[in-house]
Amino acid sequence: MISNEAVIQKGQQYVMNTYGRFPVALVQGKGARVWDADGKEYLDLTSGLAVCGLGHAHAELLEALHKQAETLWHCSNLYWIEPQVELAAKLCQYSGLDKAFFANSGAEANEAAIKLVRKYWSRQGKPGCEIIVFNNSFHGRTLGALTATGQEKYHRGFTPLVPGFKYADFNDLDSVKALLGDNTGAIIVEPVQGEGGVNPADPGFMKGLRELCDRHGLLLVLDEVQCGMGRTGQVFAYQHYGIEPDAVTLAKSLGGGFPIGALLAREEVARAFAPGDHASTFGGNPLACAVAGRVIDIIVNSGVLENVARMGGYLHQQVTALVAGRDDVVQVRGLGLMLGVEFTREVKPLVDLCLQKGLLLISAGPRVLRFLPPYTITGEELDAALDILKTALKEWANE
Ligand SMILES: Cc1ncc(COP(=O)(O)O)c(C=O)c1O
Repeated sequence: MISNEAVIQKGQQYVMNTYGRFPVALVQGKGARVWDADGKEYLDLTSGLAVCGLGHAHAELLEALHKQAETLWHCSNLYWIEPQVELAAKLCQYSGLDKAFFANSGAEANEAAIKLVRKYWSRQGKPGCEIIVFNNSFHGRTLGALTATGQEKYHRGFTPLVPGFKYADFNDLDSVKALLGDNTGAIIVEPVQGEGGVNPADPGFMKGLRELCDRHGLLLVLDEVQCGMGRTGQVFAYQHYGIEPDAVTLAKSLGGGFPIGALLAREEVARAFAPGDHASTFGGNPLACAVAGRVIDIIVNSGVLENVARMGGYLHQQVTALVAGRDDVVQVRGLGLMLGVEFTREVKPLVDLCLQKGLLLISAGPRVLRFLPPYTITGEELDAALDILKTALKEWANE
């Protein structure tokens, strides 16, 4: 019989030890709820870590997946793929950018962006350009994306890294200016840092970055792998800031749970790639693109963004009230349904307490409790989650 224990035992024997996993094996999901192998139910306020934006087992996504599975699962990118073309057109329509490249994950989307930046400047006679990235950022685990990630703990043991990256401080324009040089080619930034602790960019900072890029002829690349595709209440997080990027990377919620990543770019920048410059066997495959195409339709046309804004406001307000008066809370911050509570101490025991009580939450760095509910979450579901959190917070205080 399947059970948490049986799955965990076999996993410990056969699966590489790269994740600090919770002692639970999830086997089923529906909407904002998931069930483990022992039949226990949880409210999932992680959405599979910002992936299942429309909740688990969304009926329309299942329909899109089944329909495509019965037609064509895979064909090489040496042929045109109709669902990929349709998805590219939709992403360009909603982003205002001109061209898309498809990958399978966030890290790969960022690798594509890094290569595009390098190729763009090589063609302009500036090979090996430098890229400015940010402390506390997270861009993925492949070597280029890892180098772009401004957190030393992820670098340890994996040097030498990729040359040509410089690290500025997030929300500090002067620290960016101090790094500018003749060989700078681009700035890569998350509009809301996710793994780094749920840090939204200040409006003046994002505008300032755009102005700096315009003044110095640099490319502004936004990593919206976590904060994009509706998470903040706009399709793209940069739409809150009134700026336009030169390129954007996406993954996570783009496929609603089906693996896909994307790089979008302005025509002039995208043109740097020629056949043979970049590729991915599975990138932009028919199944992923059919599902992602439907994800966008639902996000844009079904009142989903309005729900994110409404429920995001409600969650922010309720969580602020819940932690009011606690002397171990530093700040509640976020955008839309991407919320973090920074504590003065490590939140892992609190996350564990919530799990035991049937609520999935996650940390962002050691001291930030992170909420990433599905965009379709209801007020009743949030209330139920907050009741559990309230009890867990009390127990945590008494520990
Ligand atoms: C902002 C950001 N970029 C990139 C990545 C890497 O994505 P993936 O794990 O799909 O490679 C993540 C993952 O958490 C992320 O949050």
